[in-house]
Amino acid sequence: MKLSVIGCGYLGAVHAACMAELGHEVVGVDVVEAQVASLRRGEAPFFEPGLPEILTSAGESGRLHFTTNVTEAAEATVHFVCVGTPQRRGEMAADLTYVDAAVESLLPVLKPGDVVVGKSTVPVGTAERLLTRVREAQPEATLVWNPEFLREGKAVADTLHPDRIVYGVTDGPAGERAVEVLDEVYAAAIGEGSPRLVGDLATAQLVKVAANSFLATKISFINAMAELCEAAGGDVTFLADAIGLDDRIGRHFLNAGLGFGGGCLPKDIRAFMARAGELGVDQTLSFLREVDAINMRRRVRMVDLAREELGGSIQGRRIAVLGAAFKPDSDDVRDSPALNVAAQLGLQGADVVVTDPQAVANAQRKWPDLSFADDVEAALRDAELVLTEWPQYVALDPEHVGSLVSQRRVLDGRNCLDAERWRAAGWTYRALGRR
Ligand code: UDX
Repeated sequence: MKLSVIGCGYLGAVHAACMAELGHEVVGVDVVEAQVASLRRGEAPFFEPGLPEILTSAGESGRLHFTTNVTEAAEATVHFVCVGTPQRRGEMAADLTYVDAAVESLLPVLKPGDVVVGKSTVPVGTAERLLTRVREAQPEATLVWNPEFLREGKAVADTLHPDRIVYGVTDGPAGERAVEVLDEVYAAAIGEGSPRLVGDLATAQLVKVAANSFLATKISFINAMAELCEAAGGDVTFLADAIGLDDRIGRHFLNAGLGFGGGCLPKDIRAFMARAGELGVDQTLSFLREVDAINMRRRVRMVDLAREELGGSIQGRRIAVLGAAFKPDSDDVRDSPALNVAAQLGLQGADVVVTDPQAVANAQRKWPDLSFADDVEAALRDAELVLTEWPQYVALDPEHVGSLVSQRRVLDGRNCLDAERWRAAGWTYRALGRR
């Protein structure tokens, strides 16, 4: 099929490459020239495992093309809208400027039978508004919502083999035809058995924010338990293991630590609360305010723990922060808990050195006043540490790194180190929610 993908950031670049990999002819459109130039060279403009390989193979197949010129989308019959919906500055609501601009830019190229497919995470009601614009421009085109659930770091696999496919369509023949068109687009995944659910426009938009709110709530729940464990002398990892064995609860997303960050969960729960307010049901989601507050408190607690460990003052003390991305296998530092803690420590006078296998350049752009090291050995020289779960940090040999630091003190921000092993090597090991 001939597809266009409007917006070639994390979501769009991966979607475009994966769709071409599946055999479709894809044109990716973005307004940022540098982004397009890099994708044309087959280079991913961000770190995402597996993406460079499929960019190359899809590019060589001749089925994948990138451009800044939206008129090149005119040949496609299915147009995916994959632009970002960041948090509005100084507000909780989502900024829909890019989604609106993407759809407006498509209107002149729409032909009878074309399907515009919204994938961006939007406040419920956006799709209905955009559908009106599409119908005004081309009465025989339609719009559907098809939320994306990909996780950074696993984006390629999540796109090629999604755990579910959700369509939100209008009633009547246009909606029915759109379902047929999307079924053809996703034939490979549907053939593999990915469940495919068809609902209305409103629910499809809600599914995405509901899923992310649930995940955020699960993380904040376990982090609230971590606060209790700290107060009562318990161990939150043991607690998570024990409650997680109940199938109804499940162990996934019960890892206590610095909490959630990234470009989705934090802004999505805030935008959801803002939208609920507009719909007159603000009380319904007031618990998400607490979910957000628990999450942000973990960062403060980590800074306090560092101060406590250093005998009450962090002024001038050298602290190595291992991991700046919001999670492993990503170079994304948007709302990164680790980088936020590093910045707080720096602002409070500590001599902080941050390292990360992929995110140093992005982190440096965000916090130019912090010091950065390219490798872990340089960062560790003379220090204490805080970390994300990059496998290479989890695998560090406490004996070896013990010879680099001036004091063997480790703060495990993600509860991912083997505490006994580090203690046996003479380290003072502390973590959130553990004795
Ligand atoms: C999330 C959703 O998982 C995905 O379905 C959606 O499409 C986009 O938002 P992502 O932002 O890539 O994906 O990250 P995710 O893997 O969900 O992790 C979010 C944050 O929660 C990370 O900072 C992670 O470190 C943290 N986290 C995750 C925890 O603190 N504890 C956990 O148990 C799990």
